[in-house]
Amino acid sequence: MTRTPVNVTVTGAAGQIGYALLFRIASGHLLGPDVPVNLRLLEITPALKAAEGTAMELDDCAFPLLKGIEISDDPNVAFAGANVALLVGARPRTKGMERGDLLEANGGIFKPQGKAINDHAADDIKVLVVGNPANTNALIAQAAAPDVPAERFTAMTRLDHNRALSQLAKKTGTSVSDIKRLTIWGNHSATQYPDIFHAEIAGKNAAEVVNDEKWLGETFIPTVAKRGAAIIEARGASSAASAANAAIDHVHTWVNGTAAGDWTSMGIPSDGSYGVPEGLISSFPVTAKDGKYEIVQGLEINEFSRARIDASVKELAEEREAVRGLGLI
Ligand code: NAD
Ligand code: LMR
Repeated sequence: MTRTPVNVTVTGAAGQIGYALLFRIASGHLLGPDVPVNLRLLEITPALKAAEGTAMELDDCAFPLLKGIEISDDPNVAFAGANVALLVGARPRTKGMERGDLLEANGGIFKPQGKAINDHAADDIKVLVVGNPANTNALIAQAAAPDVPAERFTAMTRLDHNRALSQLAKKTGTSVSDIKRLTIWGNHSATQYPDIFHAEIAGKNAAEVVNDEKWLGETFIPTVAKRGAAIIEARGASSAASAANAAIDHVHTWVNGTAAGDWTSMGIPSDGSYGVPEGLISSFPVTAKDGKYEIVQGLEINEFSRARIDASVKELAEEREAVRGLGLI
């Protein structure tokens, strides 16, 4: 039986994450080895030519699953019929720019994109926002799409989750595949909280295996939370291949589900769980099945975790107030 191709829209397609992402989507890593895809690339007008170059290279790979590529600088065209949208293109923070300026500049991108998704995407649209500030950009896009169920707008904290897995495996001399139930809480920013208190390493409680609160507070948490800045410092550019990899992981898990006994981390609209104000797009532990995700309920939050979750959520609430003040939501 021939399957109908899934329409995947990628914004910022000519950027560095786009370049690391598109080839993996086209080769079946996003949705599965038997799912054909149409790619829709959205770029700003000056970058269309570069996007065309990438499309030529995609053609030259002769990927059996890639059924079509369209390039546009019009969100209304690029999101038409989209089943999956990866919002990667964003306005980076430049010298002298205040946080409010950054939020405003990104509002100018994510508000019209949210409206275009609302008006033109397929009914089953799933949105992942990668462009920073990812959680609040997702909130802006979601607010501009009142006809799309709010839970379809998500923000990427899977890179933070993967970073935490890797750091924990190194510390404990184990493999990342031995580690389950790790959680990133809060914002994709330096306030995020990677939580190992419910995690397991080869079936044992991770915090007990580590048994080193100093390492947890002074090494693990800051290393994970500030990893993005460390990559920028080392590479002279922000993470790209690892970010693209995490975007693939995020959507793959959302569509194909979490493994039994495990969960992942996603920035999703809060339903009020764990004291996170309703509507904020915050990272939670989630399981996924049949294309839907759910927040893992009933975890006991100790004092150490509570203070850190609250600090990151406070930052998200402040970002929401700022974009509200700018009339973006
Ligand atoms: P980049 O500058 O290489 O590429 C961004 C691309 O977006 C450019 O080609 C630009 O032309 C395009 N663009 C800008 N405005 C657009 C618009 N309105 N519509 C469509 N395209 C538009 O940047 P990058 O390295 O690919 O990173 C992209 C974003 O991802 C940045 O905001 C970065 O901070 C963020 N990021 C997030 C995470 C995460 O974990 N959430 C990790 C790494 C990077
Ligand atoms: C990352 O976590 O690598 C990025 O979000 C950093 C950035 O500021 O682009």
